[in-house]
Amino acid sequence: VLPALTFLPVELVAVCDIDRERGTSTAQQYGAACFYENVDELYSMGGVDAVMLCVSGRLHPTLAISAFDAGLHVWSEKPPAMEVSETEEMLRHRKDRVYVVDFKKAFMPSTRKVLEIFDTNGCGPVRSILGVYPISIGRGGTLGSDSSTRWPSDGWHPLSVMLEVGGDVDGVTVIRNPRNGGACVLEFASGAVGNLHLAEGTPISQPMELYQFYGQDCRVDLENGGLRVRFERGIPFEYESATSYLGPGFDNGSVVWEAQNTLNTLENNPLFTQGIYFSLMHFCQSVLEGRAASIGTLERARDITAVMEAALRSEGERVDVAKSRG
Ligand SMILES: NC(=O)c1ccc[n+]([C@@H]2O[C@H](COP(=O)([O-])OP(=O)(O)OC[C@H]3O[C@@H](n4cnc5c(N)ncnc54)[C@H](O)[C@@H]3O)[C@@H](O)[C@H]2O)c1
Repeated sequence: VLPALTFLPVELVAVCDIDRERGTSTAQQYGAACFYENVDELYSMGGVDAVMLCVSGRLHPTLAISAFDAGLHVWSEKPPAMEVSETEEMLRHRKDRVYVVDFKKAFMPSTRKVLEIFDTNGCGPVRSILGVYPISIGRGGTLGSDSSTRWPSDGWHPLSVMLEVGGDVDGVTVIRNPRNGGACVLEFASGAVGNLHLAEGTPISQPMELYQFYGQDCRVDLENGGLRVRFERGIPFEYESATSYLGPGFDNGSVVWEAQNTLNTLENNPLFTQGIYFSLMHFCQSVLEGRAASIGTLERARDITAVMEAALRSEGERVDVAKSRG
């Protein structure tokens, strides 16, 4: 987050950390004039418009609520919370303040490209979505109590992509292998179906994160976690009589966008390709323009938390999550 501030319309005025040594060295390194050991001092110092919370899902709700109560706008790392009830409490305190959670993958240029393709190329609406992510889902308990899997810390990443494109989810069904991998099936309110493939066991040191979005006569793939976008449009084709796999002209076949790894520039930097810069910029622009955020919202945070809680509960049966939206 701190390196991304270089590219944002913000002035870092203070750093707060309960670890004094770590906090003061960070404040010095990034040029913040003030350091605080607790947020109450920071929130009451005046001259601060907004806070960026990078602590933990267990503490983000309390820290966000006291920031809202002090009149501050809040950007938060994921997890936004560990329980739906906490997100509801945050909603009650948000009032007219801007809140953005760093669902970085919803902000990725590649995810925004998927939305553009489905909006403007006659492919929409999305009918089905496949997500492949190296994660497992524990059995039962709560997000706060599950320490056996990375679901509570990282489930936000694939779900934020799938809900950003697919919209609200009504039902969740999880089918597990003995190691808690398998499939998490999402029934979207639109009628689309999503399959989050729980690819536990795959090496995370290799490209392994994949999304596929299926619509009318088109498919869009986000390969290598979104570093490559492949838009498949098909070719004019007649079964058993087409003799070339190359259609005429340029309005058929696939279009591929991929980040280059030669120039040391911004568009190929993970701060940009993974969406963190865009999440922070969306927050800054929302604050500066006095409007509510539209991506990474508290409402979406509540809905993803509900899906994650439901996934822990499902043992092959459908868990309804529509009612958590109220
Ligand atoms: N979006 C992503 O890709 C991504 C990647 C890494 C981490 N994260 C998230 O960022 C957050 C921080 O992760 P990290 O790896 O930097 O953790 P960390 O433990 O290294 O840093 C957290 C810091 O918060 C401080 N802290 C704890 N309680 C505090 C309090 N009450 N007030 C002020 N400071 C307090 C700690 O002393 C520590 O310095 C987590 O929520 C994590 O999930 C997100």
